[in-house]
Amino acid sequence: MSLHGRDLVSIRDLSREEIEEILAASRKMIPYAEGSKVSHSLADKIVAMAFFEPSTRTRLSFESAVHRLGGSCVTIADASVTSMRKGESLHDTIRMLSSYADAIVIRHPSEGSARLAARASDRPVLNAGDGAGQHPTQTLLDLATMQEAFDTLSGLRVVLLGDLKYGRTVHSLAHALSLFGSEIVLCAPPSLELPEPARARLKQMGAKLVDEPNLTRAIRDADVLYVTRIQKERFGDEAEYRKVAGSYRIDASVLKDAKPRLAVMHPLPRAGEIAPEVDDTPHAVYFRQAFLAVPVRMALLDAILGSPRKGG
Ligand code: CP
Repeated sequence: MSLHGRDLVSIRDLSREEIEEILAASRKMIPYAEGSKVSHSLADKIVAMAFFEPSTRTRLSFESAVHRLGGSCVTIADASVTSMRKGESLHDTIRMLSSYADAIVIRHPSEGSARLAARASDRPVLNAGDGAGQHPTQTLLDLATMQEAFDTLSGLRVVLLGDLKYGRTVHSLAHALSLFGSEIVLCAPPSLELPEPARARLKQMGAKLVDEPNLTRAIRDADVLYVTRIQKERFGDEAEYRKVAGSYRIDASVLKDAKPRLAVMHPLPRAGEIAPEVDDTPHAVYFRQAFLAVPVRMALLDAILGSPRKGG
């Protein structure tokens, strides 16, 4: 594998073998992410964080990953304090950043913005979420979490619950799960089902897709329950959001007949979809999932920006 100098705009930019190599490198990064080992692999590197949408985990875990590798960050955490307020385009903003940093991590509300940024930049661009499009680095840490829980990614039965229309994490994750032969159970309110183009692409890959709108039936026999937040900010009409708000909630009673090893995941933030009582059950892996963002993003940044490997 050589990810050196490459963009990561979509999870489709990675083969199964490349994903496996990133996951193997991520496992080795855990002691560095915890601070018990020290790395200087990005000592001379600057990574720009260009966040034009709110973020806690993605931006801060990327920043933590850069610092843990001995690098530095320059950060836009709030578009309203940039010259975009004066009318500067995203293209020009990214082009400038590419002369101030060695790589750019971008989050933006418009689908396709990360692809535009990659074209504007002569430095690697990593998509940290483009509207309802993709969130490929989230997928890598989601896979790392499943692999840690089950020692494998093959043959898992994974329920994707919630906002499958606007949820970019599930758009990326469904593709990756298909590469590993997992069974994907789609459980969504009727107006938030997986869009047809995404479904068609998955079917073309030979994905094992099952529609099961009934949550109790979906959870039965599941290995992973991947819960998502309804993406309120992507609804054009508040009334449409209100029709589906609160339509599912995972609590202890919902999980009572689940497999003992069912892993409940969530990219977070949650907004009521998982009751706090679930945090204390052995099913809850979402905070571990959030931690694994750091070693996974370290492994990715090291592969893209670190010294090229021999034969890479
Ligand atoms: N999972 C995720 O993307 O979280 P943030 O929106 O807090 O970055």
